[in-house]
Amino acid sequence: MESIWSQTCKIEGRAPLSGDIKTEIAVIGAGMAGVLIASALQEAGKRVVLLEANRIASGQTRNTTAKLTSQHGMIYKKLADTLGMDLARQYAAANEAALGEYRRLIAQRNIDCDFEEQDACLYGDNAELLRVEAEYADALGLPARYIKTTALPFPTAGAVQFERQAQLHPLKFLRAVAEPLTIYEYTRVQEVNEHRLVTERGTVTAEKIVFACHYPFVNFPGLYFARMHQERSYVLALENAPHIDGMWVFADGAAQPYSFRTWNGLLLLGGGGHRCGENREGGRYELLRSKAREWFPQSREAAHWSAQDCVTADGVPFIGQYAASCPDWFVATGFQKWGMTTSMVAAMLLRDAVCGKENPWTKLFDPRRFDTETIPGILKEGGKAVKGLAKRLFQIPAEAAKDLAPGQGGAVDLDGEKVGVYKDEDGKIYPVELRCPHLGCQLEWNPDEKSWDCPCHGSRFDKYGDLISGPAQTGI
Ligand code: FES
Repeated sequence: MESIWSQTCKIEGRAPLSGDIKTEIAVIGAGMAGVLIASALQEAGKRVVLLEANRIASGQTRNTTAKLTSQHGMIYKKLADTLGMDLARQYAAANEAALGEYRRLIAQRNIDCDFEEQDACLYGDNAELLRVEAEYADALGLPARYIKTTALPFPTAGAVQFERQAQLHPLKFLRAVAEPLTIYEYTRVQEVNEHRLVTERGTVTAEKIVFACHYPFVNFPGLYFARMHQERSYVLALENAPHIDGMWVFADGAAQPYSFRTWNGLLLLGGGGHRCGENREGGRYELLRSKAREWFPQSREAAHWSAQDCVTADGVPFIGQYAASCPDWFVATGFQKWGMTTSMVAAMLLRDAVCGKENPWTKLFDPRRFDTETIPGILKEGGKAVKGLAKRLFQIPAEAAKDLAPGQGGAVDLDGEKVGVYKDEDGKIYPVELRCPHLGCQLEWNPDEKSWDCPCHGSRFDKYGDLISGPAQTGI
């Protein structure tokens, strides 16, 4: 189902690339990150083109909950402990600056995008941990404090509140920012060779290239596949639910792990998160529906949708030079669940990097970091990937296709061959090869989205095997 953003804002189509062109900067991906980066570079006087495999904002941007905040879960004590107070302060400052940049753009360009200041609140069940997190955030210069009571319909031990954060309609905002940019839709980049991008519709030769396509698809150099995985989460939009002031998210370990924000009389209830490719049983939307019935019995579901986020091993996005061997390639990825705000951080940081200017946040977000903090995370990612591969090669399917119930999918033995099968409500069978075309892991059926999802790096495919999202570049 379409998100409420897609239902309420249409973005005018752009023509695909046709032929070969040259430019100063090519940005791959016209979601929030790509559009903001291109806009910042154009403002800085650069000639920029954007290449989008599908439609503008057709990836995660249309499915976000669109919170603009420097509050990113229980991170500030952790960042201070692992990276030190200076880098933790920079993380806070970068995200507050991003909020300021949203305000500037919206005011300067008079963008009508339902921008609304709201407090961001992180609730949980351990008052002491919340209090300590608030103290760290405050010491790092953030507008943070611990509050004892919350506006939520279940008991908590309080929350960390950040004042004067914000929310908006992501597509209304993006449509306005994208308007003066040169964007080629339905132009998937298939290969990048130094300064040349190859698409089905022509080539682009660029002095500098920015990968802003959610998950970078060039595996070597960069090794992003070994350093990130993807997580999925689900949202219901509820009519006739009580108004809840503020934007609420849960702290680690909370008994009720959900998120809340409002838009135009609707309450958005988020949750049911899992690593991509690990939802064999399904029931994520049903979980949210049961919570809606429990907490807001008068409410009605107006829409439901889901989104996917890239998660880095150390919890800090990768924004900067793509790899040591590629001085003219840049990347912005690994935004966790905070892509609206960190997309703007990426725009400011990469504008400076591409223009050869110093930026105080370069070291913090440097994608080339491989240190003792990240190595355990990398090994964990590698372990998951190996598990995915081993499963494809050795596990014997438990069910035969005929035993699948209508509406079900899974790995089955079909005429002696192990394949993925979805059986629709009429009993029609859709077989696919189970090997992910990215790096070969075994795909898993996601019954909530009726898609084949990869547990290794999060590529997704529909029931026909057509690509929904990468890092894979082709269908199954
Ligand atoms: Fe990398 Fe599937 S997404 S192997």
